[in-house]
Amino acid sequence: MTKKIVALAGDGIGPEIMAAGLEVLTAVAKKFSLTYQVEERDFGGAAIDRHGHPLPAETLTACKGAHAILLAAIGAPQYDEAHIRPERGLLMLRQELGLFANIRPVKIFDPLRHLSPLKEERIKGVDFVVVRELTGGIYFGQHHLEDRRAEDINAYSYEEIERIARQAFEIASRRKKRVTSIDKQNVLATSKLWRRVLIEVAKDYPDVQLDHQLVDSAAMLMIIDPARFDVLVTENLFGDILSDEASVLAGTLGVMPSASHSETGPSLYEPIHGSAPDIAGQGLANPVSMILSVAMMLRESFDQGAAAEAVEIAVEQTFAQGILTRDLGGSASTTEMTEAIIRNL
Ligand code: IPM
Ligand code: MG
Repeated sequence: MTKKIVALAGDGIGPEIMAAGLEVLTAVAKKFSLTYQVEERDFGGAAIDRHGHPLPAETLTACKGAHAILLAAIGAPQYDEAHIRPERGLLMLRQELGLFANIRPVKIFDPLRHLSPLKEERIKGVDFVVVRELTGGIYFGQHHLEDRRAEDINAYSYEEIERIARQAFEIASRRKKRVTSIDKQNVLATSKLWRRVLIEVAKDYPDVQLDHQLVDSAAMLMIIDPARFDVLVTENLFGDILSDEASVLAGTLGVMPSASHSETGPSLYEPIHGSAPDIAGQGLANPVSMILSVAMMLRESFDQGAAAEAVEIAVEQTFAQGILTRDLGGSASTTEMTEAIIRNL
């Protein structure tokens, strides 16, 4: 069956890295005889310019009808004061598609180990996954802003915690079989419920080991001993913070992909980095996060594990050959990096 993919290039370096991702997709599809069709749609600041809204109705409809969605990056300084900011479009898309499970794998590539801000012996063997709840918690509770007072409500239901917990246990059971649940149960009611649900869900996965960390100590452990983790699972806001912390362990934001899943609808795949407006349009952007997001899509939405692996191996070979973009200490352009990956493929 022909897979329908909606591509949201967005802002800043978005269009350049999306083009790179789609070129790799074309190459890998040819090699593995996959048929797919790409529909490009406006999203983020680019959509504000053309439609007056970061998530136009036709973009949302296209996303709902797709088998998978690729998103490059959104946001630019000129929209900081916009009536509806590009980021709002992303939150609406997550909510409309029910993308409750955000999966961010953190893996250190050997040829890039020296780029990490941590000592090499600490970074060795780091390979974990952050599972972040993405459609609940304080992001989607009531926000109320007055002149001299403000509040944001953090709320979680049993069911919302249960379904993200199951995602984490499922992922862990295919990996090193360890789940670390992160909360702030010494203070927050939502975290007390979170911990209770995790313990209950764990009973269905007897071969996976569950432990708990308070979010502050988890932030510390991620620096002093990141190799200890296998699967981390946490609520929306803690996940936002910890996944950024995790992503810089590699010394660059440019190499990590992510996936967001719903219960039954299409999943969305995107780099973990932003739109980097400072280098947009100069051919300097590292396309690897986007390319690895394409690989994640192949594996998780299209069940094409072999094609995904071929892309991942081609990326590693390219690093090993010393072909690196500027953020990785090299001088390859976006196009040179992409072409090298396709050659290795
Ligand atoms: C992320 C981003 C978003 C978030 C912003 C852009 C709203 O930081 O995907 O982590 O906070 O979720
Ligand atoms: Mg974030």
